[in-house]
Amino acid sequence: MHLSDTRKFYGLITAPWNTVPAAIILGCLFLSANAPESWARSAGELDREIRKAERFDINHEGNRFELLGDFEGTTIIFKVYDPAEIKRGALKLPSSNSNYRGEIAVQRIAGFLGITIFPATVYKSLDKKTAKKLITVLQAKKFTTSRKDHHRRGIENKEKNRKEALRRLHTEANPGGCFKEWVENIQFVSALGTRENLGGHQVMKYLKADGPMPAEGAAVLKQCTSLMSEKGCFTGSIEWLRLARNISDMMLVDALSGNRDRFPGGNVHMRSLDGIRKRGPAGIHFPRVELLALDNGATFLGQQSGSLDDLTGRKVASTRVERFVKGRYEKLLELQELVRTDPAEAREKLFLREFRDPAGRRIDMFGQLAGNLAAVLDYMERNREKFGSRTILP
Ligand SMILES: Nc1ncnc2c1ncn2[C@@H]1O[C@H](COP(=O)(O)OP(=O)(O)OP(=O)(O)O)[C@@H](O)[C@H]1O
Ligand SMILES: [Mg+2]
Repeated sequence: MHLSDTRKFYGLITAPWNTVPAAIILGCLFLSANAPESWARSAGELDREIRKAERFDINHEGNRFELLGDFEGTTIIFKVYDPAEIKRGALKLPSSNSNYRGEIAVQRIAGFLGITIFPATVYKSLDKKTAKKLITVLQAKKFTTSRKDHHRRGIENKEKNRKEALRRLHTEANPGGCFKEWVENIQFVSALGTRENLGGHQVMKYLKADGPMPAEGAAVLKQCTSLMSEKGCFTGSIEWLRLARNISDMMLVDALSGNRDRFPGGNVHMRSLDGIRKRGPAGIHFPRVELLALDNGATFLGQQSGSLDDLTGRKVASTRVERFVKGRYEKLLELQELVRTDPAEAREKLFLREFRDPAGRRIDMFGQLAGNLAAVLDYMERNREKFGSRTILP
């Protein structure tokens, strides 16, 4: 419900008595529209985006590819425009520390569990003509910097990834990558984006089994940036319960996929629901946001990723998550059943591939998921034994 609608509802309080029943019905609608579910993207909406991304013809002659800027990630990402110049998505090419197959698997695993904060992500295979177009764009750019700070490494890595992408596009018969929906009105949130910041954030007390249940009302997330796009200052309101659920879900899927790169600072985003943005003196305000786990490239790259340690708080005790959204545990058991009884179906359904990484190591995504899943379930079960229903987030 938008603010103007809310005002209309309160306007009814001063209306004549015969409008009271209508006011009660509208009141119920108001409350249900503001229930946690309405603060989230629905599974149906996400599904539609997945289908749209699947149907999109990446090899259409009229498509245009625009390389993302120096500070927009260290991998090679193209914004893709269709022949009508409509932005259709992001094409992310493989690089040494980014597994595009992992991004697709993460989306499918999250979907299986009923989690909708991961963007629609599908596989795309590029034909010769498209590869040639991308080569032209990549050859026209060099990532260089005179900076002396920590960004220098990022730019140098990006230049390595540009060369690696060129090599693949030249040599592979059907180079592939992942294609994600383009998500508008997002901003990274560094207050949640490093272990230390997240550990110190108020939301974490709601994720401890002996902590209070999430408070009523909303938290405000803030971020200013002069480097990353989109530049400026941003705020977003998110209901405490929603924020607790989102963090718990994100860290659960990260532990299952062995995500090594959730917490460098810029890999936790907020996304404006309804796409609403309001410009004020302090910058842009998103009236209702949820979290977006946009970058899932550093997943399924081998054992010992550390993301289970984030969940259990082994690295930074305060990031420990002991509460999970109602129904997730049962879904994880279902996932384990699938993995045990029908590995072929699990591999296919969840995009769990086997391949060699650039260093020649064999990567078995199925084996990694099975191992991570067993460890996560073991951790959850120990918590459930100790704390019972206090481990469940409504
Ligand atoms: N699908 C998308 N929709 C909107 N913005 C996007 C999308 N994909 C990438 N971006 C923008 O590009 C940035 C980099 O993307 P991403 O984090 O996926 O790249 P990366 O190279 O894996 O990053 P890192 O440097 O953390 O490894 C994002 O923070 C975001 O600003
Ligand atoms: Mg990133």
